[in-house]
Amino acid sequence: MSSGLRGIKTIRDFDLNGKTVFLRLDLNVPIKNSKITDETRITASLPTINYCLEKGAKLIVASHLGRPKSADDKQFSLEPVALRLTELLDREVVLMEEPSSEGVKHILYGNMKNEIICLENLRFDAGEEANSIELANQWASYTDIYINDAFGACHRAHASIHAMPEVMQKKAGIGFLIEKEIKMLDSLTDSPKKPYIAVLGGSKISDKISVIEKLIDVVDGFIIGGAMAYTFLKAQGVPVGKSLVEADKLKYAKEMIQRMEARNKTMLLPVDHVVAKSFGDVESKRTTTSAVIDDNEIGLDIGPQTIRNFTAALAKASTVFWNGPMGVFENPAFSAGTFAVAKTMSESSGVMIVGGGDSAAAAEASGYASKMTHISTGGGASLEYLQGEKLPGLEILRPRKQSETNLE
Ligand code: 3PG
Repeated sequence: MSSGLRGIKTIRDFDLNGKTVFLRLDLNVPIKNSKITDETRITASLPTINYCLEKGAKLIVASHLGRPKSADDKQFSLEPVALRLTELLDREVVLMEEPSSEGVKHILYGNMKNEIICLENLRFDAGEEANSIELANQWASYTDIYINDAFGACHRAHASIHAMPEVMQKKAGIGFLIEKEIKMLDSLTDSPKKPYIAVLGGSKISDKISVIEKLIDVVDGFIIGGAMAYTFLKAQGVPVGKSLVEADKLKYAKEMIQRMEARNKTMLLPVDHVVAKSFGDVESKRTTTSAVIDDNEIGLDIGPQTIRNFTAALAKASTVFWNGPMGVFENPAFSAGTFAVAKTMSESSGVMIVGGGDSAAAAEASGYASKMTHISTGGGASLEYLQGEKLPGLEILRPRKQSETNLE
């Protein structure tokens, strides 16, 4: 068993037949004009949903969606998700507008047949984010077994993630998605296959320092792209024009390069860039011939020689963890670097893991997502877990003394 799962029950440990299962999922998907624009988190939840149905459970699915201020924020309704689930599962998914109401019991104890109950956005009730035991008790009053499969929300000590399993005690465990996520993330720190390269990008070093510190002794090398590379270059005295630089991280960047040298490890930075006069000024786009960026220009992607250097290193790696795009990949003029990383990873026979959030979106946009070993459905949760932080949603599921359960 993966070390991160020690002591935690999984859905296989329960007899679900005829039982009411409260299944906490992360169905927090992007929605534009009532249309779901990326349903990865929905499809990733299907194995656990289907297992519950096959085993004869009465199913209640629950999730948050976005960050609504109140129940009046109707654009955060789970309705489009419930409709999509109805299509995917080919059975009626009844959206319960008041999850804590007696209406749920009414359906459960009435003549419920094939339907699935979907609770409306949990964050419409302030008790969710307040980790309310009262709210959890209401849910527990009609629940036999609680299953958490919301990996992307496990770093939140909210009622459906923390208070609910606290109330359910031994009748609580995880689903297949969390199991897979933890196994995959553990494989990045528990004896990963070598050579092991971490590709880090995105805009800020400050967001990645904890993960760098966790990985620096485990990886054989770092590849740094995206805007965070400009801080590393500037720290070495390379002019980077108007590119984004974190002035308060220059010292850290310089020391990190020295620490990698002292360990005799690879540290690849861009040697050329795709630049423009400003963010949206595609007309002024050009490729530099060195790592130097002119005063009036901004770096927006890695250049062709950098792509060759990065992909050559990645092609030799047996394990790759990728977090953060290499450039402004949303704009086709600046997507080549990010997509080249995705392509090389997709062609590898090694363990290729993509962190959630922006990197998952980048892998998806590249068209190579299905070829990765794993794409995490958690943005913040996967980084926090990898950094070695304890996720409240997992910790509460481990065998524990009563005194250890209170997070406040
Ligand atoms: C996510 O999108 O990372 C998760 O669903 C958690 O959402 P949150 O950051 O709003 O808590």
